[in-house]
Amino acid sequence: MEIRLKVRRQEAQSEYSSYSDYTVDMPEGATMLDALLQVRDYDDGSLALRYSCRSSICGSCAMRVNGRARLACKTKAVDMANGDEPIVVEPLGNMPVVKDLVTDMDVHWDKVRQITPWVENSGPEPEREHLVTHEVMLDVSNALSCIQCGACVSDCPVLEVDTSFIGPAAFAKAYRFVGDPRDDTTKERLQGLSATQGGIWDCTRCNMCVEVCPKDIRPMDRIMQLREKAVAAGVKENIGVRHGNSFAGSVRRLGRLDEIRLLPESVGMFNVPRLLSELPGAWRLFRAGKLPWQSAIPFMHKPIPGIKHVQRLYDQARNQKKEQAK
Ligand code: FES
Repeated sequence: MEIRLKVRRQEAQSEYSSYSDYTVDMPEGATMLDALLQVRDYDDGSLALRYSCRSSICGSCAMRVNGRARLACKTKAVDMANGDEPIVVEPLGNMPVVKDLVTDMDVHWDKVRQITPWVENSGPEPEREHLVTHEVMLDVSNALSCIQCGACVSDCPVLEVDTSFIGPAAFAKAYRFVGDPRDDTTKERLQGLSATQGGIWDCTRCNMCVEVCPKDIRPMDRIMQLREKAVAAGVKENIGVRHGNSFAGSVRRLGRLDEIRLLPESVGMFNVPRLLSELPGAWRLFRAGKLPWQSAIPFMHKPIPGIKHVQRLYDQARNQKKEQAK
């Protein structure tokens, strides 16, 4: 089978990149890694790529194929072929390129270090060992299967605009320690993870990390679980919880979102620097005709007709949740 590849090339430390075209003849079951190794071994020895296990275990062959992060050793070339179009191969995103398809993973590992990736326990040593129930281990074991390939880090759109975001892989790792009963710093961890800048509340729930993860870790789900655990532990003084409360409050009060109150209630009424920092965004919305009073909606929102029904449903749902939590 003839495979056409368009591979991004970049020299170390260079900000410029280009694409090289290759055509290789591969058997039907060949992976993207097989095709790239064929290129490197027989066509172009200067092509740099990283791999080790060739069995989807080590995570080192992660790269972007046709615009999405994947493990090259797990991705069949035939599945990526698209008619006459070549298969586009690029390095992972959100990390500096070392050379060609090799990226500097320090960006990722620095974030993993930030979440204190070990169990902390200052209590007395048990006589034999700390015992953990089977159910608890099952809960954290999914996060334990992460191979740290960086695919979710590569394709996270929040990291693209905010490098302080801790990111899906490190949050999934954090969940493993927050959920471990041997750790006695759970609340401190949850407070740290709920930080205003770059914390769990900055995730936009786009689901991209879930889609690209080759091990079905579902990092976004772990982030949502961390949010639930933070709220349950009383870690509520942060923009995320205030935003949720403001959103829910406006739905109950008006039956719709009250954009005018959402921002000040989320960042805090007296957080003047933060409110001022949003002015450029408000100006752009104004110029695009997107501010509420520029639309058919009146400036001061009134409750929608039938608001009582919305409030009844809202209260019913909240009571149900309280009952479930007992
Ligand atoms: S080479 Fe190890 S995961 Fe692909």
